[in-house]
Amino acid sequence: MTISTEGPKGFFGELYLRSTRPFLPEHVTDAEGAYLAARLDEGGATGLVLDLGCGHGRHLSRVAPKLPGRVMGIDFDALSLGEAKAHAPVTRGDFFRLPFRAGAFGAAYCWYNTLGTFADEAVPVVLAELARCVRPGGWLIIHGSSPNPPLAQPEASYDGVLPDGSRLVEQVRFDATTRRDVLTRELTLPDGRFMAASFFIRYYAVSEWEALLDAAGFQVQWVHGAVDGSALSDASVDQIVGAQKRG
Ligand SMILES: C[S@@+](CC[C@H](N)C(=O)[O-])C[C@H]1O[C@@H](n2cnc3c(N)ncnc32)[C@H](O)[C@@H]1O
Repeated sequence: MTISTEGPKGFFGELYLRSTRPFLPEHVTDAEGAYLAARLDEGGATGLVLDLGCGHGRHLSRVAPKLPGRVMGIDFDALSLGEAKAHAPVTRGDFFRLPFRAGAFGAAYCWYNTLGTFADEAVPVVLAELARCVRPGGWLIIHGSSPNPPLAQPEASYDGVLPDGSRLVEQVRFDATTRRDVLTRELTLPDGRFMAASFFIRYYAVSEWEALLDAAGFQVQWVHGAVDGSALSDASVDQIVGAQKRG
C-alpha cells in the first residue's frame, strides 16, 4: 500500500498565514505558550524540545524565552520559517523524514490540528518519526480541536473582510463518517490576487490517540479540554493529549 503523505495542496504558506492569523489573537497564543512551557516543566522534560510544524513561530516566540536555548522548530514552509527564525532555531524539513538523530529531543509538541490535515494512514508514519526522535521518558504533546463545535453545527460558512482588506470566503461541512471537517477557503487580496484551497481537518477521539500513540511507543498521561488544564468535556473547544515515550 502506498501511504499518501501529502497535506492540503496550496493551503499552507501564504493562504494559511493571511487567512488564519487574523483569527489568532495574541492572548490566545500567550495562553497556549504558557500552557506548553508549564506542561514541559511539570513533566520534567529535559534537553531539546521540537515544535513540529512551527509555522511562523507563534509558540516558539512564547516557549523559547522560558526554555532558553532548548527549543527549535521544523516546518516545510519557507515563508513561515522566515518569521519563525526570529524566535528560535528552525529547520526546513518534512515530518515524514525528520532530519534528526534518534533520541535527539526530550520533548516535542504539535499544535493547531496539524496532524488532522493528513490522511489517517499517514499519521502513524509521523508518530513513528517522533518516537524515533524523542528519547525514552520524553514527552509528546498533540493539540487538536474538540469535535464538539462541528457536531453541534455540522455546516458553517464565513464571508468577511479581513483587517488587510482581503475578502475571505469559507465553507465547512462536518462528515460524521470520516470525522472530518471538509473545507474550502478562498481569499481575494485587495490587489485582486486570488488564492484558494480545499482541505480537511480530522477530529481524532481520545481513544484513537491512545491506540495510535501506544502503537508508536507512547503512553497517554493526560488529556485536557483547554489550555487552563481543565478536563475534556462536552463544552471543550480544545483536545490536548500529553504522552510519554516508553522505554
Ligand atoms: C496548522 S499549521 C500550524 C502552525 C503552528 N503550529 C501554529 O499553531 O501556528 C501546520 C503547519 O505544519 C506545516 N506542515 C504541514 N505539513 C508538513 C510536513 N509534511 N512537513 C513539514 N511541515 C509541514 C505547515 O507548513 C504549517 O506551518
